[in-house]
Amino acid sequence: MARIVGSIMSTHVPAIANALERHEEADPYWKPFFDGYEAVHSWLHEVQPDVAVIIHNDHGMNFFLDKMPTFAVGCAPEYRHGDEGWGIPTVDPYRGHPDLSWHLVEALVGDEFDVTTCQEMLVDHAVTNPMKLLWPGGGVPIVPVTVNTVMFPYPSAKRCFALGEAIGRAISCYDVEPDLRVVMIGSGGLSHQLEGTRAGFINKSFDLRFVESLTDDPRWATQFSGEDLVKETGSQGVELLMWLAARAALGATVRRVTWNYHIPISNTAAGTLVLEPAA
Ligand code: DHB
Ligand code: FE
Repeated sequence: MARIVGSIMSTHVPAIANALERHEEADPYWKPFFDGYEAVHSWLHEVQPDVAVIIHNDHGMNFFLDKMPTFAVGCAPEYRHGDEGWGIPTVDPYRGHPDLSWHLVEALVGDEFDVTTCQEMLVDHAVTNPMKLLWPGGGVPIVPVTVNTVMFPYPSAKRCFALGEAIGRAISCYDVEPDLRVVMIGSGGLSHQLEGTRAGFINKSFDLRFVESLTDDPRWATQFSGEDLVKETGSQGVELLMWLAARAALGATVRRVTWNYHIPISNTAAGTLVLEPAA
């Protein structure tokens, strides 16, 4: 059988890759951010996941304004890192887990989530940066799930929560030998806006309220529309929908393993959170 060991939520700011390449982890600008990953590494060492389902938003690498699936699932044997133009080093392809991918697609479509199935998928910093942060020495195979937060209309917070719940159900009925330990990753956020008159916008009080809710009141954020979330968190802060979906996969009760928050990393309120299902 398969079991979810927990969910890791992480910011994915492109500049993280530049800092890692330049070994700037101990630099005063970066240290409060990178220090947040020490507890995550200890937890990963403890739970030893076999595969990661990484919920993220594509930033125009696979899907552009001409074709924009609301939800997509990667079913590829490997995922190449496309050149994004941020000047960040391109990494070797990540291994996929096609069997789990197809199981997810069948279960999600059976659950009335009409996902786009991708037998080829490029990945961008929303996958590569969390992977680098979590597994500096090379990671586990991945199943990428994308959620549109690039072009209106976005899926509602309520729908993203339901997607996460459906992923959780799908994993719990994945009949596989030997047992498979799955870690969920929610990649993006927290509040940030990169363009326009509100460029640099950050909303600490909303971020903290949201993160608080993920432990004990996970449906709190489902009251907000896409427009509400842009207003509250900035036009890219909407990426916190990935956190919501990754949380929803865990079921009713969770325990907070670690939490770190630091403003700013580039233009972003950087957050790192690990939740695990309560025993
Ligand atoms: C930044 C943050 C993002 O989430 C992103 O996708 C690109 C840039 C930033 O703060 O620079
Ligand atoms: Fe982003």
